[in-house]
Amino acid sequence: MAKLLSYFYPLTKKVHSDYSGTLEITWYNGIKHLDSANANYSYGSLQRILKFGLEKINLKQVNSVLLLGLGGGSVVETLRNDFSYLKTITAVDIDPTVIDLAKNEFNLKEDDQLQIICEDAFLFMQVHKNQYDLIIVDLFIDTEVPKAFLSLPFWKQIVDASTSNGVILFNASLEKTKSNALNEVIEFLKSHKYHTDVFEKVNNTNTLILSKGL
Ligand SMILES: C[S@@+](CC[C@H](N)C(=O)[O-])C[C@H]1O[C@@H](n2cnc3c(N)ncnc32)[C@H](O)[C@@H]1O
Repeated sequence: MAKLLSYFYPLTKKVHSDYSGTLEITWYNGIKHLDSANANYSYGSLQRILKFGLEKINLKQVNSVLLLGLGGGSVVETLRNDFSYLKTITAVDIDPTVIDLAKNEFNLKEDDQLQIICEDAFLFMQVHKNQYDLIIVDLFIDTEVPKAFLSLPFWKQIVDASTSNGVILFNASLEKTKSNALNEVIEFLKSHKYHTDVFEKVNNTNTLILSKGL
């Protein structure tokens, strides 16, 4: 019923998150979205932006995915439904409220192919030393990428966790211009034998970075 009504007017439910403030779950035109006060977190434009990046990756060669920033899990849906990627995904999010919403509002289920870990992504990268064929970095608090995720120690851990032909997809910014810190990350990836493409204004908003091992 909510889905049907949403074609006539949006229906919104608000939830408090200790990390992201007020989160909104909105039914709009038959689709449920997850938004923070000023940004779309999951489903909607965020999902289209990550899909733009995934279209440039040969997912047939990918056997393991690390997703930093689960949100409502829209990229999990994209990987499975649009790209038929049915192998393992390890998803990390700091926010138990967001993980709860992913499970209870967006029907994400943990199984042999999907492991969900509630942890700070920075600490996760320091402690866990597995390697992945595809690493998706999609870490935002509202409109901002937390500073730690634009620091080179974090990107060193990401490069170490990437298999030799691995791919890194970084949803890097909502800003119109690239910050010095982001430019440093791009140079770091290029200098670590990664072929790095920078896509600006994806979906008219985000900067997306795609790095492939050479
Ligand atoms: C844009 S949403 C992710 C959307 C998700 N990739 C999708 O496909 O639906 C950004 C997420 O980053 C998470 N986040 C922010 N800081 C984090 C941190 N330090 N460690 C782990 N997750 C964090 C937020 O809780 C939020 O769920």
